[in-house]
Amino acid sequence: MIPKRKKYQCIALLMAMEGEAKPLIAHYNLKKIAFHNPIEVYANTDKSLLLLLNGKDKRHQVDNIGTQAATLNAFVAISQYQPDLIINCGTAGGFSSKGAAIADVYIAHKKVCFHDRRIDLPGGFPDYALGNYPVIASDYLASKFKLKQGIISSSDALDYTPKDMLIMQANDVSVKEMEAAAIAWVCQQYNQDFTAIKAITDIVDGKHATATEFLENFQLASEALKTKVVAIVDELKMKNEV
Ligand code: ADE
Repeated sequence: MIPKRKKYQCIALLMAMEGEAKPLIAHYNLKKIAFHNPIEVYANTDKSLLLLLNGKDKRHQVDNIGTQAATLNAFVAISQYQPDLIINCGTAGGFSSKGAAIADVYIAHKKVCFHDRRIDLPGGFPDYALGNYPVIASDYLASKFKLKQGIISSSDALDYTPKDMLIMQANDVSVKEMEAAAIAWVCQQYNQDFTAIKAITDIVDGKHATATEFLENFQLASEALKTKVVAIVDELKMKNEV
């Protein structure tokens, strides 16, 4: 029998793009409660559900996509709000060779890792670079809410190099995105429970240009993401809102 998940008093959703977060902010009627430049913090009334957005780049006025802001976001979440579960939610590329299709929603399975960090030095550096950070057990949630399970890998690029691809293949990666491993590293450092939920906007090993496919499917995937994240949050959160 698959064991039931434990319940969490305070869950923080960490997200990179405003467009990905909007359906969740609307669903839970979250209000903006703080700004830790550039991180934007939204919460429900009793602050048992937080949503922290990476915010905008000061110079380019675009969403702060990628691992730098994700790391900062995780540090703000943990140091300022002490949630007991962090969920990194967002959109991602999926591998059709691993069964991914557009608008599928994945939950992190076994570990999250990096595919663009290579430190070929003696000692622990090669493994340190890959990350391989822990995630909470995914079997119960995946089976209850019909999520796909897969290894999620992060880099700071929407595209990939041939070496990146070899590393993703060697790591049995199903989902490629730009934040999960950075957040997972902070969570590992602070013994913080972590998982990631990712909706597929584009097929990494498909024939379409990534940016075009990403933009075409962004809305659809963000809605699919919301539906599954709501189901998971409602399952895992203690019902403590007044
Ligand atoms: N986000 C959405 N699609 C992505 C991809 N193919 N690579 C990295 N991040 C993504």
